[in-house]
Amino acid sequence: YDNGVALKPAMGWNTWCTLSDCHNGDNKYFDRCNEWEIRDIAEAMLTNGMYDLGYRYINLDDCWAATERDAQGNIQPDPDRFPSGMRAMADWLHKKGLKFGLYTSMGSATCNRGGRPKDIPGSFGHYKEDAATFASWHMDYVKVDWCGHDLFDSKLQHTELSNALNATGRPIWLELCRGYSYDPIPPYVAEVAQSWRATGDHQDEWSNSKTVIQAFMNPSNPSVPHAWNYGDFLMTGGPGCNVNASLHCPRQTDDEYRTTFSVWSIASSPLIVATDIRNMTAIMTECLLNKEAIAINQDYTSAAGKLIGSDTRDPVCASGGDGDAPTCPVFGRKLSDGTYAAVLINLADSGRANVTMDLGWLGLPSSATVTVNNILKQRSMGTAKGTLTVPLSPHESVYVRLTRTTTTRNDTSSADGVVT
Ligand code: GLA
Repeated sequence: YDNGVALKPAMGWNTWCTLSDCHNGDNKYFDRCNEWEIRDIAEAMLTNGMYDLGYRYINLDDCWAATERDAQGNIQPDPDRFPSGMRAMADWLHKKGLKFGLYTSMGSATCNRGGRPKDIPGSFGHYKEDAATFASWHMDYVKVDWCGHDLFDSKLQHTELSNALNATGRPIWLELCRGYSYDPIPPYVAEVAQSWRATGDHQDEWSNSKTVIQAFMNPSNPSVPHAWNYGDFLMTGGPGCNVNASLHCPRQTDDEYRTTFSVWSIASSPLIVATDIRNMTAIMTECLLNKEAIAINQDYTSAAGKLIGSDTRDPVCASGGDGDAPTCPVFGRKLSDGTYAAVLINLADSGRANVTMDLGWLGLPSSATVTVNNILKQRSMGTAKGTLTVPLSPHESVYVRLTRTTTTRNDTSSADGVVT
């Protein structure tokens, strides 16, 4: 919904996973946000290259609020965590050129207590008042959850909060988190919000990342400007969130992080990072600071990438996996500059596969020749004609940019496109 923001997918960072007890050896309660940590994170975003690439939002998740409203019924920040108050925090971030967001719930309590003995209030019964409070704090983004009591009709309730936020006169990005069906996602979400979660919580474990990747294959409610289908936090580099306590401070392999990031990028999911950007590791830099991948994600005048085909020629790919979902999917997209992007993936848990895509899946003629560039590695992979085949290990993918070559009479480009 166009309320003046969200022309392109949001880029930013969220508190929920990073500042967690995981780092102290206990991942039971995730969030530990406070104003000092927010300042640290902001300084990191400004100096580690993220700001230069367009990352702007710093979003508080659950557990920023005090367990009681004030005497007038206003929601208020936890005084120990945000002693200077939210408006001061917002002013500080805005002066740095950043944007500020927070979390609330449609029900009467949030989903977590952050270790406190009492529930934290949600916005039920206070949609108008809380919207006005958030606007008075100069908030730029509100993520709304679906916890607590008094949850009866998400369309009605989300619409009410959306109207209340828009009535403040401050353009605020609204992210819907839960409360509606993910399959199919009801069309109303695009009429009231700027983004909505495409699936349940993204956990920092491969089987879950794969579920989100599958949700992006044929989205029931595709991304368009001002209305973005969101894959939830990026856990790039780890440790991210995982509610499964047996997976303590989880991490995935670099290939798995690359695959997830590439799909979020090509599908134009908002890119909200949930790992510790104060310490950018090699894989975080490779993905999160990849200029070309970011430009594709933000290319709002071209349709978001989705499943364009899948390999069934390779035995590993043909063997099938999760019901109807392809084992070797190919995501693709034509970009506004006339070039193409594709992500070829091996989702199988074992077996290296030669994953082949037909260039025809992108709408190219079968005789087309393209130059192939590996986006994350920033290196040339030569040329391909008709098809492109890439050998991929389990969970590995390749994110490529394809540029059509001008056809010449003596075209000597390789015919099979096999890259080894
Ligand atoms: C829910 C949401 C998460 C996070 C937590 C906070 O689980 O889906 O993204 O916001 O609540 O309690």
